[in-house]
Amino acid sequence: MLRFPGQGHRRPDDVVIGPLDLAARVDEALAVQAVAFGLDPDEIAVRRQIVLRHMTSPGARALGATLRGRLVGFVYGMPNDRAHWWSTVVEPYLHREGNEGWLDDSFVITELHVHPDHQNRGIGRRLITTITDSAEQPRSILSAIDIDSPARGLYRSLGYQDLARRVLFPSAPKPYAVMGAPLPLRRR
Ligand SMILES: CC(C)(COP(=O)(O)OP(=O)(O)OC[C@H]1O[C@@H](n2cnc3c(N)ncnc32)[C@H](O)[C@@H]1OP(=O)(O)O)[C@@H](O)C(=O)NCCC(=O)NCCS
Repeated sequence: MLRFPGQGHRRPDDVVIGPLDLAARVDEALAVQAVAFGLDPDEIAVRRQIVLRHMTSPGARALGATLRGRLVGFVYGMPNDRAHWWSTVVEPYLHREGNEGWLDDSFVITELHVHPDHQNRGIGRRLITTITDSAEQPRSILSAIDIDSPARGLYRSLGYQDLARRVLFPSAPKPYAVMGAPLPLRRR
């Protein structure tokens, strides 16, 4: 056990989940995303502009997972806006499945990433449940690469169901699944 001044005993791997000023810490966050999800320098530069623009959207919020001040994971999202690029891409796919209504009154999870050294310890679950617990919307939507992955397993266990599959985003080679869940997310 390590003793931290004023904090009594804590496990050395204690990870704190809390509000994140993502615009200020965008480079740290993208470094986590780059190693968790796989981004090359060109993609990081593009994502950087997108993240900074997203954080100016009404209701956009981010949470970080920090270990002794160092960012090891983050999540961000915002109320869905049908005028946003993501929504316009997924809309015809949801429409085809009769699920287009999910685009209204939904909190979108835009990104969720945990550094590989800290995965599979419940941090991703804590990040997404904490951010959606404070959403004003009654449901949440997101997109994930359409494969059996830890991300898809996590989302299913939280109550997210497939709203559309094989969704193609321009410039992304792999198809995505769009998923939606009622809020609050399911607990184990
Ligand atoms: C998806 C991700 C954020 C999950 O974060 P995490 O902190 O590892 O997740 P948790 O420890 O909270 O695990 C929650 C669930 O995920 C699933 N999971 C996590 N790691 C897994 C693994 N290696 N293999 C299979 N399932 C796994 C399990 O269902 C787990 O449930 P359990 O707690 O009942 O075992 C993380 O794996 C990640 O950053 N992946 C790469 C980036 C990515 O794909 N992001 C999502 C983009 S849509």
